[in-house]
Amino acid sequence: MAAARQEPGFDTRAIRTQAARSGHREHSVPVYLTSSFVFDSAEQGRDLFAGAADGLVYSRYGNPSVDEFVEKLCIMEGAEDGVATATGMAAMFASIASLVSAGDHVVCSRAVFGSTSQILTRILPKWGVETTFVPPDDPDAWRRALRPKTRVFFAETPSNPGLDLIDIEAVATIAHEAGALFIVDNCFATPWLQQPARLGADIVTHSATKFMDGQGRVLGGAILGPREIITDVRFFARQTGPALSPFNAWILSKSLETLSLRVDRHCENAEAVARHLSGHPAVERARYPFLESHPQHELARRQMRHGGGLVTIDVAGGEPAAMRFINRLQMISRSSNLGDSRSIATHPRTTTHAKLSEDQRLELGILPGTVRLAIGLENREDIIADIDHALGED
Ligand SMILES: Cc1ncc(COP(=O)(O)O)c(C=O)c1O
Repeated sequence: MAAARQEPGFDTRAIRTQAARSGHREHSVPVYLTSSFVFDSAEQGRDLFAGAADGLVYSRYGNPSVDEFVEKLCIMEGAEDGVATATGMAAMFASIASLVSAGDHVVCSRAVFGSTSQILTRILPKWGVETTFVPPDDPDAWRRALRPKTRVFFAETPSNPGLDLIDIEAVATIAHEAGALFIVDNCFATPWLQQPARLGADIVTHSATKFMDGQGRVLGGAILGPREIITDVRFFARQTGPALSPFNAWILSKSLETLSLRVDRHCENAEAVARHLSGHPAVERARYPFLESHPQHELARRQMRHGGGLVTIDVAGGEPAAMRFINRLQMISRSSNLGDSRSIATHPRTTTHAKLSEDQRLELGILPGTVRLAIGLENREDIIADIDHALGED
């Protein structure tokens, strides 16, 4: 009897899912850098626009390079359908805005990226959509925040930059009992470490700018979920136009082929840095989900394959000490990105989270001495040596 053919694995599918070839027998899949597609006849143009025929029309609606990127991500996240966007923030905005109407209510984890909280506190209220923010570590708080018109739950796990976690399964159960949809920003974990849809999330969003690109070159985002919901998201995106560039999609698709290898190395390096800095005399606290000292360590082990590529530290001596540390780094870059092959140090209080109030920052665990370390792929010993030198005496 022939052996049953086993399902191809995560890496095989990331590598072998591809757009149609051009006819030149090229091995690497080409980039389809075109804004529109040609109609064979006026009637075909009419039928394509009317939806009476299938086919490509215009790259704001669909493009083979963009579709390849979405198809790979759907496979990796275990999602039915998806829409790619020009940035991660376009994905956050389109996912929420396409699901809510005036009068609707959103419940959101307090620990979300600054721009996501600005969308919910300063943009959507103009259209009559209100948000209640809840602490990330208390699933019951989501239940207490419910209102009759609660339509969407939104969370990010692990969070930027506090590395707080959300119990996806527990929060998804509460959302579904209330008839709400649960959106999870999976940017920090990537589908290699955690697949929120398999834990009950309805929609998964991404900033592909981070680990998916992995080399700090292009911006991108994605929204993934069941076909029925994504149909509404696609209508919203088609009309409002946050389309991903085919060139960026091509770069991102290529990068997905090595996602698991790169993320594994990011995690190994980050965990080594976190363990080295726990108990370091110049560091008050090192936060990393796979450290036993992380308050949600057990959840991290249950929900994630590994702890991720970020380590957040509180430098002893507050802001002057944090600034001194960042200025004394010789290899690690001073920048605001993350998920890059190059390690990056960021001072959230004065850069990425400068627009928040001090109270909001404290709620997110952003202290004057907090530094976010996006650990890259350089040799571990060199990363640690640079950090040790920067934290050391003159
Ligand atoms: C968790 C998270 N979500 C969304 C974004 C926004 O992504 P983009 O810069 O691609 O718009 C970021 C950016 O840092 C992020 O960290």
